[in-house]
Amino acid sequence: MNHTQRQPRNRTYLMCPPQHFTVEYAINPWMDTTVPVDAALALKQWEMLRDTLGDLGHRVHLLDPVAGLPDMVYAANGAFSVDGVVYGARFRFPQRGAEADAHREFYAGQGWTFAGPVHVNEGEGDFAYLPGAYGGLVLAGYGFRTDPAAHAEAQEVIGRPVVSLRLVDPAFYHLDTALAVLDDRHVTYYPGAFSPASQRVLAQLFPDAVLADRADAEAFGLNLVSDGRHVVLNTEATAMGDKVRAAGYQPVHVDLSELKRGGGSVKCVVAELRQ
Ligand code: ARG
Repeated sequence: MNHTQRQPRNRTYLMCPPQHFTVEYAINPWMDTTVPVDAALALKQWEMLRDTLGDLGHRVHLLDPVAGLPDMVYAANGAFSVDGVVYGARFRFPQRGAEADAHREFYAGQGWTFAGPVHVNEGEGDFAYLPGAYGGLVLAGYGFRTDPAAHAEAQEVIGRPVVSLRLVDPAFYHLDTALAVLDDRHVTYYPGAFSPASQRVLAQLFPDAVLADRADAEAFGLNLVSDGRHVVLNTEATAMGDKVRAAGYQPVHVDLSELKRGGGSVKCVVAELRQ
C-alpha cells in the first residue's frame, strides 16, 4: 500500500471524566491499591486526550461519571456498537457491574438499537471492529474477562462474523491491550498475548499486520485509538510510535501515566460510537 494514502475518517467517541477515579480494588495485575492516585493529574491527562481527539476533528460525547464507580473512566468497556446496533456490556467483576446501566441509559433515546447481553462481556475492551475486512469483521477476545459465549451472542446481535481469539497472558487481560485496529482493515498486535492457535488465525487473517513486542504491549502501546491516519497512543510507547510511523501512520502521543495505574490507557478510556 502507498503510505501517503492513509486517510483519516471523522469519528464519534464516548468518554467519561475520571472525577471519581481511584485504585481501591485490584482486578488486573496493573492495579496497586497501596499507591494513592493523583486525581488532579488523572483529570488533566484525560482532558488533554479529549482535546487531542477534538483537535483532530472528532466528536467526543461525555458520559456523566457516577460516584462509587472508580473504573468508569474506562468507557470502552461499557458497550460495543456497529452500524447503530449496540451490544451492551455485562461486567466480570461486581465492582464494575453498575457501569453497564449508565452506558445503557446513554444509548436510550438516541436512535440506537440496544441489545442487553446474557453473557459476560466487557464491550470494546474485548471486541474490535474492522469495517473494511470481509465486509465487516469483529475480533473478539476471551480468556480473562469476556465469556466466549458472548462472542456468539454478539454475532447474533451485530450480524457480522466474529472471530474468537484466546488471550493467555494476564498482563494483557483485554483484547484492547494486545491488539488495535489501525484502519478499516489493518491491525497491530502483540502475538505473545495470544494462544498459539489464535496467533495462527491472526497471521492468516492479517499477513500485513504491524507486529508489536512485549515491551510495546507493556507500555500500553497497543491500547491506541486510530482514525485511519492519526494514531493516538501513550507517551511511554515511543517504540510503538515508531512502528506505526513506519507503516505510514502519524503517531500522536499523550501522557496517560495516571490512568495506567488502573490498568488502562488511550483505548480503554475511549469508546467509538458507530452509528
Ligand atoms: N481497572 C479496569 C479493569 O480492570 C481497567 C479497564 C481497562 N479497560 C480496557 N478497555 N482495557 O476493569
